[in-house]
Amino acid sequence: MAESEATPESVYMNRRDFIKGTSLATLATTASLYGCGIGPTPEPNAPVEWSAIEEKSYPAKRNASYTLDRKLTKEDAAASFNNFFEFSELKSDPRFHAQTLAIRPWTVEVTGLVNKPRTFDPDDFFKLMPVEERLYRFRCVEAWAMAVPWTGFPLKALLDMVEPQSSATHIAMTTFYKPFTAQGQLAFWRPWPYTEALTIEEAENELTFIALGMYGHPLRKQHGAPVRLVVPWKYGFKSIKSIVKIELLDHQPMTFWNTVLPLEYSFEANVDPTVNHPRWSQAKEKMLGTGTIHKTLPFNGYEKQVAHLYI
Ligand code: MTE
Repeated sequence: MAESEATPESVYMNRRDFIKGTSLATLATTASLYGCGIGPTPEPNAPVEWSAIEEKSYPAKRNASYTLDRKLTKEDAAASFNNFFEFSELKSDPRFHAQTLAIRPWTVEVTGLVNKPRTFDPDDFFKLMPVEERLYRFRCVEAWAMAVPWTGFPLKALLDMVEPQSSATHIAMTTFYKPFTAQGQLAFWRPWPYTEALTIEEAENELTFIALGMYGHPLRKQHGAPVRLVVPWKYGFKSIKSIVKIELLDHQPMTFWNTVLPLEYSFEANVDPTVNHPRWSQAKEKMLGTGTIHKTLPFNGYEKQVAHLYI
């Protein structure tokens, strides 16, 4: 071969780097899918991280209006069976790999069609919002359920502070995007970052809750520390974890699961025992920890508070 036809060293070195990089990305993707991650497996359930204001604020006063028809789920059971696809597709895994997420500093930007856009540090919420504890039922679209004490505040209180404009019809929420920490986000076929959305009427309903804590302490990372949503009459995938942005819009946005599998995960996603998932029945649910089976209730038992939104 003539010297002129030979590949210059700089080019083949670049190619080598490219191939090495591609192989690493493939390995990382495969590893994350199997819940392995790269490097040593972190310890599960790292101690909860407390800020000074959190130390003073827990336990928050329980709001007696929200009662349960079943026993609270044991914390261990809730904390070891999680959906957090940023870290793994295996439910037993986020309790290990989510511990690598740095949750301080953290900001939540509230923006879009509001008169007073503002960026909050999670500690600001303890100073500015009516933080309380509520006992809610929680129903995953996969037919498992739990009953847990959340600490947080109604989303409406936050919206009142930023003053939505009259053209706002929807509210979109976004999770962090950190593919080198959350290796599930290397799965390029999924529409990262995770997003969810509600209509403005749903967002302003008294039940729609921003959770900062659970079981009397700040959220564990596998549950979506430091700030997540809880919408108890909707399937669990609407309750987006580790929120970094809340945006008010004048249209219905695309959302993560509704984009991935629109025929299985509707935008509305209200709990409805009469409408089966294409692959399983939604008539009953199995409680985490005890395995007790309950009949699933319309709107997960919150019909009185929300049925009027859908008439
Ligand atoms: N939020 C993000 N960012 N990523 C996720 O994978 N999974 C959702 C929801 N919020 C998810 C998420 C689903 S499918 C469920 S059922 C609940 O989180 C599970 O919450 P838990 O693990 O705290 O029980």
